[in-house]
Amino acid sequence: MNDKDIEIEYLKKIDLAQKYNKYYYDKNKPIVADQVFDLLKKDIIKLENKYKFLKNKSSPTRSVGFKPSKNFQKVKHKVPMLSLGNAFNEEDLNNFEKKINNFLSLRGINIIDYSAEPKIDGISASLIYVNGQFTKGLSRGDGIEGEDITQNLKTINDIPLKINAKNFPKEIDIRGEVFIENEDFKTINKKFANPRNAASGSLRQKDPTITSKIPLKFIAYTFGYVEEMNIHSQTDFLKNLKTWGFKINPFNKKISGVKNLLENHKNLEEKRKEIAFDIDGVVYKVNQFNLQKRLGFATNAPRWAIAHKFSANSSISEITNIEIQIGRTGALTPVAKIKPVNIGGVIVSNATLHNEDEIVRKDIRIGDTVLVERAGDVIPHVVSVDFKKRDKNSKKFIFPLNCPSCGSNTAKDYNDITKKKDAVRRCVSEGYKCEKIAIEKIKHFVSKEAFNIDGLGKKIVENFWNLKLISLPQDIFNLNYDKIERLEGWGKLSVTNLKFSIRQKKKISLDRFVYSLGIRHIGQENAKLIARHLKTAINFFKLADGTNIERLFNIDGIGATQIQSIKKFFLNKTNLEVLSELDKCLEIENVILINNKGLLKNKTFMLTGKLNGVSRAEAKSLIEKNSGKIISNVNKKLNYLIAGEKATTKKVNTAKELKIKIINQKEWMEMLNKTS
Ligand code: IVH
Repeated sequence: MNDKDIEIEYLKKIDLAQKYNKYYYDKNKPIVADQVFDLLKKDIIKLENKYKFLKNKSSPTRSVGFKPSKNFQKVKHKVPMLSLGNAFNEEDLNNFEKKINNFLSLRGINIIDYSAEPKIDGISASLIYVNGQFTKGLSRGDGIEGEDITQNLKTINDIPLKINAKNFPKEIDIRGEVFIENEDFKTINKKFANPRNAASGSLRQKDPTITSKIPLKFIAYTFGYVEEMNIHSQTDFLKNLKTWGFKINPFNKKISGVKNLLENHKNLEEKRKEIAFDIDGVVYKVNQFNLQKRLGFATNAPRWAIAHKFSANSSISEITNIEIQIGRTGALTPVAKIKPVNIGGVIVSNATLHNEDEIVRKDIRIGDTVLVERAGDVIPHVVSVDFKKRDKNSKKFIFPLNCPSCGSNTAKDYNDITKKKDAVRRCVSEGYKCEKIAIEKIKHFVSKEAFNIDGLGKKIVENFWNLKLISLPQDIFNLNYDKIERLEGWGKLSVTNLKFSIRQKKKISLDRFVYSLGIRHIGQENAKLIARHLKTAINFFKLADGTNIERLFNIDGIGATQIQSIKKFFLNKTNLEVLSELDKCLEIENVILINNKGLLKNKTFMLTGKLNGVSRAEAKSLIEKNSGKIISNVNKKLNYLIAGEKATTKKVNTAKELKIKIINQKEWMEMLNKTS
């Protein structure tokens, strides 16, 4: 190697070290293990010692405290900081309200009041006050664990350090948004793309004196953990926040009825440009806390709140081609390749056409001029065709009847419930036999909600597949690292890092494992239900003999569609091989139920008929919250049959025969120490 080559090599390493540092310090999301960074730094030191002409001001040997050390301490939130579901239009809002009505069994008689609050596009923070004193401030982090950014938060004028009000709770974590006003953003450092990034970057500064120079603002809007608070609605809570000395959003409103929500949304969207800070929608929260409590949470978001985003951005473009993508479940999805257009700051060159029926319904053809819409983070889609601009010679698009990947037949499933054929056409080949399905299955296997393997993104999975490094999920745990190390773009460091993250993920929870297998109709929720029911991986593997699958009917929420799909999964030989190989290299954790001290501990329930003022879903969640179990068959394992109005006679009679206790709603409520 000559001096020039040595220098190039050296600069590459410095660049890499800078990149690692950026992720570590700025984004607080390390992309490599600490050991990997140390190795790289060692390499750099070695080079600098050997070749005295190598010097660079960004070298990790020059900057003090450059070695990775966590900037901020991680702290678990007492109450998780969840995100919100999104609504984009009237239909979404109607569905939101309908679900609430159903869950609370309100039948639309009672009018639901909402607190409608402009959604500030900033960074959320949680401020913990004990006896009126601001004691700790956390960032959201991953929602479960945040970073201790107390010192930085203390520099924000809007955050009171001491609150003396009489009715201020003994302990409370006040949550709100840290942001920068648009005018202030113009005056600060140009290195940030928008006010949100600037707020995020400033909050993560290591040195609070730097943060203090940035005009950060804080608006409060909710709370997490609280001890001793006598407030019963969100709007009252907001009023109190103000009297306690917090800033609240001046555009907050109490509203009921979807029509009025829409009107308020429209007004705010029009006013958006005049408002001093960025807002990207309106958050609606069911106003009464007792209703919020009853509604509770689904997997990642509350049932009692939703974010109504501002309208989608759209643009006109031309379809240059229609390609067929094959998904993990064999679904053939047509995608329009369009002439690249800028939609709301993002260059779009693909738009989904959803399925075969959609193409027929909208008569979408190659060469058409179309309106493309991009709403929030959702994949852009074709809204409509401009028929006036259509070429006279254009031809109808013919949807392929064979899988473009493996050539197998395709078919549309018949839906027993709607008594119609599905809109989606699928490749009938079995799982891993179709190349495209197999690749998608592996991508799903390593995805965030499944094995969550860092550094094994979609592109890398495709690459490894093409190089025959992986063809089935278990291959991930037996990779040929020597070969990978020799690939372009890979080296010792990145391979060490990949090894590290794969090894870390060999220990997995049962629900994630079940979800990772990509069984059709078994999403995160159902995987959790199955895991909770089966408790151990051994029980799950035992399903393979076929006799136990029917028992899953006992799980409330698992129905014929899911059972059929699970059966199909276990009948497939390749799947069984995959399971047996995975069993050899993984450590699948058993399910430990946390709340088993509730009032209904060790008791099983079944519901029949209608309950008064309580929906099935709420009854189920109430039983589970109190450590009881729901089963959906009358059998010897059942302890109580809760019979509501118009209970099914057959169920009641079977219960009588089996001498199972039959109770009414009142008796059940009494078991929960509630009077109905
Ligand atoms: S309530 C579970 N209220 O939106 C309740 N959030 O996607 C969740 N946000 O992380 C928060 N304005 O950063 C709430 N008035 C408001 C909000 C708001 C902005 C942000 C917040 C949160 C995200 C939810």
